[in-house]
This record gives sequence, structure tokens and C-alpha cells, in this order.
Amino acid sequence: MRWIDSLEAAAAEKLPEPVHRYFRQGSAGGVSVSEAVAAWNAYRFRPHILTDVSTVDLRTTVLGTPVDVPVLVAPSTLQLQADPGGEVAMAAGVAAAGSVVGVSSNAGSTFADIAAAGAPWWLQIYVVRNREVTVRMLDAAVEAGARAIVLTADTPVVGRKEDDGPTVWETVQATHGLANVNEDDYTDDDLGKADDLGPDVIGWLAERTGLPVVVKGVLRGDDAKRCADAGAAGVIVSNHGGRQLDGSIATARALPEVAEALTGTGTEVYVDGGIRRGEHVLAALALGARAVFVGRPALWALTVGGSAGVTRMLTDLGDELDHALRLVGVPRAEDLTPDLLVP
Ligand code: FNR
Repeated sequence: MRWIDSLEAAAAEKLPEPVHRYFRQGSAGGVSVSEAVAAWNAYRFRPHILTDVSTVDLRTTVLGTPVDVPVLVAPSTLQLQADPGGEVAMAAGVAAAGSVVGVSSNAGSTFADIAAAGAPWWLQIYVVRNREVTVRMLDAAVEAGARAIVLTADTPVVGRKEDDGPTVWETVQATHGLANVNEDDYTDDDLGKADDLGPDVIGWLAERTGLPVVVKGVLRGDDAKRCADAGAAGVIVSNHGGRQLDGSIATARALPEVAEALTGTGTEVYVDGGIRRGEHVLAALALGARAVFVGRPALWALTVGGSAGVTRMLTDLGDELDHALRLVGVPRAEDLTPDLLVP
């Protein structure tokens, strides 16, 4: 069996059942989470023949940072449940693969410890009602060397998970806590998600940090344009792994409209959700993404193999992409074009 496909079942053996469920679940009826992979599989390629594919180059830059492979790790919570090294082990695995790691606002390790693992990292931020909390987190991230701020914009309220009893999140929160917020200093209301944000928050984040801002959760061309006009350096086409509005369009289907809307703006386009194979990465790049993010595969790989598992998962996807580029007849990822696909 292909190693990446074996990871979830192997992780399920090691993880406490509620944690496995938390990692895999979508919100509400689970429609979006169940469609994500299939939507990538629904594309068909129109490969070129008789082109020189003797040398393939996967390297690119993301917001100016060079990466060896255009597969980055999406921010996610509860990594200490996957491996004792948590976010630090995740970042070490990413560093060895020559990629970039997204670090969640809800990380269980401190930014300084994560940064010391050596991977370039982007802070994912949830802007909360008490801006002082957000400002402190931003300042700490800048201090620890974050290269970009990823504003998660699809979460004015948290998606409803149809669990019985307290969620894993609440249970684990009670024991682990957040490493980069002093929760004792604030009320639940202070820490609740801000639900009154407009595009001006992009400029505010950029000004406060001096870092490029990437908006995560974009699913429409018009919103992508609003983000670009407000100063976003990038957008991530994402439906939060099917964990926010259930029934949201699959990212494989939303990406072309967003890429089209941002043509010529200089705003970089990324995508996540259901990307599990080199062919999925190939499709995403051909449709205009500069790089992709993977969420759950990184959690499964961290659980099964620690930082070495994360490195292997990323390099395996890179190897598959290399192979697929040769077969599609385009040796340089940046030369991929949408005509290589039919929906
Ligand atoms: C997430 N995701 C997420 N996103 C975010 O902006 N902040 C966060 O703290 C989290 N936490 C989180 C936890 C878990 C367990 C999962 C599975 C996901 C969403 C994540 O960044 C990404 O958008 C999706 O996971 C991508 O989809 P795939 O690759 O998991 O299909």
C-alpha cells in the first residue's frame, strides 16, 4: 500500500479515539469533508508529449521564501496529542523537507520553541474580541521570527461538530492549554472570535507586524479581489478542511475562479483541502496555485513517524509531483497552465 494512504489507519491505532475523531471530522453533516479528495480526482489531464522532461525542478518561492517542494503544512491544533514534540516536531520535519510550516494561534508549544526547530513559519491568527490578546500574540510571533501572518477569515463563529458530550477540544484544552496566550488573564468573551471584521483588518495586521498578510478561507473570486485590494500578499483557497460551513464548495472547484480574479495583481494564491497525491498538487499548480498546504496528512504523519514522518510525507508528495510533471510533459512547475486540465 502507498505509505501516505496507510497513515490514517496507523495513526488511529496510536491516537486516543476522540483525538483521531477530532482530527478527521468535518462540521455538521460532513458533506464538504467527504467531497474534498474526490473533487481533485474529478480533474482530467491533457498532457503534452515530446517535450524535454529530463530535468524537473520543484523549487519555488512562497512570499519570497525559497522552498524545495511546493507542499507546505497547514496550521492545525492539538499537535501535542499527535507527538510528544508537538508543533516543534512538526516544524523540524518541515525544516528537513525544505518547506514552510503554518503555526496555529492555538499551538501548544511556544513560538520561540517552534522557531528554534528551523523551518520558516507563518503565524495563523484568529483575531479575537479583545484585540490586546491578538496584539500580544502578533508581537510574540514577530519577535520569534514569523515570516507572514495568515488571517483565518472563515471562522467568525466556530463550525458545529456533531459530537456527544464535551468536545475533545474542550477536554484537551482543560489539560494542555494554549502556549502563546495567558488564558488566566482573560475571560471567554475576550478570547471569543471577532465576528465583525472587515477587509481593513488586513491592513491593520500588516501595519502592526510589518509582515505580509495571507487571507485563509477564500472561496470566491470577488472576495479574493477585496482581499488583494485591501493589501493581502496572498490568499489561501480553503474551506477549513470541511470544518466550518458544511456544504462549502470544494476547493478544487473554487480555485480557478480565485486564480482568475487575482491574475495580474501580484497576490499569491495557495490552496488546501483534500490534497493527498502528487497529481492533486499538479492540478492545483496548473490551476494557478503557487503552492499547496496539507492539513490532516501532516497530523497523521506526525503521529505515525514524528518529525521524520512529516519529512517523508512531504518528500513523497514532492517525488510524486516530480513524476507527474514528467508525465504531463512540463518540467517546470511555474510553466503549468490551466489548459492541461479538463474539469
Ligand atoms: C485545522 N485547520 C485549522 N485552520 C486554522 O486556520 N487554524 C487552526 O487552528 C486549525 N486547526 C485545525 C485542526 C485540525 C485537527 C484540522 C484537521 C484542521 C484547518 C487546516 O489549516 C486546513 O485548512 C485543512 O486541514 C486542510 O484540509 P486537509 O488537508 O486536512 O484536507
